[in-house]
Amino acid sequence: MASTTPFLTAVQGRRSIYTITKELPIPTSRILEIVHEALEHAPSPFNVRSCRCIVLFGDEHDKLWRHAYEITQKDSPQAIPILGPKIEGYAAGAGSVLFFDDTSAYGSLTPRFAALSKQFPEWEEHSSGMHQFIVWTALTAENLGCSLQHYQQGITPYVKELYDVPESWNLKSQLVFGGRAGEVPDPKPKTGLESALKSFGA
Ligand SMILES: Cc1cc2nc3c(=O)[nH]c(=O)nc-3n(C[C@H](O)[C@H](O)[C@H](O)COP(=O)(O)O)c2cc1C
Repeated sequence: MASTTPFLTAVQGRRSIYTITKELPIPTSRILEIVHEALEHAPSPFNVRSCRCIVLFGDEHDKLWRHAYEITQKDSPQAIPILGPKIEGYAAGAGSVLFFDDTSAYGSLTPRFAALSKQFPEWEEHSSGMHQFIVWTALTAENLGCSLQHYQQGITPYVKELYDVPESWNLKSQLVFGGRAGEVPDPKPKTGLESALKSFGA
């Protein structure tokens, strides 16, 4: 059912889209604006605001995924028949948003909140996911194709060195984006919804 709430319409329209191109339907400045909006408005535990982003466009994006290919070929050659074409598909896109968590930000918490620091690894993941979701959904609403990737294990040293990333920033995910090469895929099956929601006392 179509939603009458623009936010939920955007939520319903978000997809993983893998056939992407270098032709963006919006200027790069608008993409940066959207990432900035997420950094400004996404919630974080105790408002610690530890999410950090680096956006790579053009050659920088291409180099990242070339490196991901090479490192995968070196470390996991058996995976290349499956991962190789996928990585080439990301390289065919226009850019990547790299999401980090800056653990040094936790030092700014007052002692009362710092006492809860053991919870942080989990809560920070929640907040990072919210940032990622906002950018993914907003870029899709602007007619880009996006997919969320997790190549941090292989690419972190390359990213940190090339972009002078502080040691305290941990790479969490890569949102690959580009123009759309084809139709938006149909929504994937949404199974188990009948047991996913319970309510009492409504
Ligand atoms: C936390 C998280 C991790 C994901 N990791 C990957 C990933 O590494 N590679 C990928 O292609 N998709 C990844 N996805 C996308 C999911 O596979 C996708 O969202 C799901 O199959 C539903 O499809 P849809 O995005 O088209 O609605 C991830 C999604 C989430 C929420």
